[in-house]
Amino acid sequence: MRVLVVGGAGYIGSVTVAHLIECGHEVIVLDNLSRGHRDAVPDEVPFIEADLADTSTVGQTMSDRRIEAVVHLAAFALVGESVANPGLYYRNNVTGGLSLLDAMTSSGVRNLVFSSTCAVYGEPARLPLVETDSLEPTNPYGETKLAFERALYTYHRAYGIKFVSLRYFNAAGATARHQERHDPETHLIPIVLQAAAGARPHVTIFGTDYRTPDGTCIRDYIHVSDLAHAHALALDGLGSGQRTADVYNLGCGGDGYSVRQVIDAAQVVTGRTIPVREGPRREGDPAVLVASSAKAQRELGWVPQHHGLGGIIESAWKYGRKFLETPGTFAS
Ligand code: UFG
Repeated sequence: MRVLVVGGAGYIGSVTVAHLIECGHEVIVLDNLSRGHRDAVPDEVPFIEADLADTSTVGQTMSDRRIEAVVHLAAFALVGESVANPGLYYRNNVTGGLSLLDAMTSSGVRNLVFSSTCAVYGEPARLPLVETDSLEPTNPYGETKLAFERALYTYHRAYGIKFVSLRYFNAAGATARHQERHDPETHLIPIVLQAAAGARPHVTIFGTDYRTPDGTCIRDYIHVSDLAHAHALALDGLGSGQRTADVYNLGCGGDGYSVRQVIDAAQVVTGRTIPVREGPRREGDPAVLVASSAKAQRELGWVPQHHGLGGIIESAWKYGRKFLETPGTFAS
């Protein structure tokens, strides 16, 4: 397929672009570089610097390039930032997302893979989370992703847009070519590894009084390559007509890992002592988020290849070392 990857210069986007090319798709990247990196997109891949909300440029790109499917990874994705600045999240994730859908309808593109999130669930009533569980986000980030998922159903009914929404749990790890490079960094694993590398003095644990075995939050960490593969499978499902309006969790399941377990595993991988401080809870954080990905396995044939936190952290440490050790290189 000829695929427009919106947000293809970001962390998950760039790994997805590389994987889609390997699978034989023709890929064009559109990104405003507000969070992504131009050098994360290979020179041979056509690149358009534009904003998601620029309906005419996005629509024109789809028509000119005869795009058959869109992969949308251009939403903002930080829980803490969304609590502090909800307008930014509603404007980009909802209004910008609607603009993308309008560009699709006006240029006749009918297939979309959307990078959604487990933040749509909020505090789970039971674990592991399944797609039919209640959707009560605890932060504006999750609210905006859920609002866009709901818009997808309405565009599906009104305009025949077919979609697969992939609810990622916690993306982590790196490939030889693509690493996590956020500026500022807020995600746990890169922060822990920056502390191991001596690039920050310590890690602060956000809350030690959660109702979890060690008092810290539990998450389901999934390797970024496994996420990328799910996008390829979703495109296959849309292309074959088997998928028309579907939502899938993507995580490793199991018990998940607490913040303290992540720090301990990183100490083993790096062989270094990581200084830790205990701090207050971060607003908007659910205590535990762990996926059942049975539906994705059954319907998409998606099977994560990277199991275990150690291997995920090891890949981030091995391939991301220069970014982890040298804070200056974080800038896009
Ligand atoms: N944490 C700390 N200290 C830090 C950073 C994080 O204790 O310095 C904790 C957080 O409070 C949370 C856990 O580590 O309990 C994971 O935090 P991240 O910021 O790495 O990830 P989040 O779970 O908040 O969010 C991430 C992505 C979202 C995605 C979500 C799904 O940012 O895009 O995972 O849970 F939707």
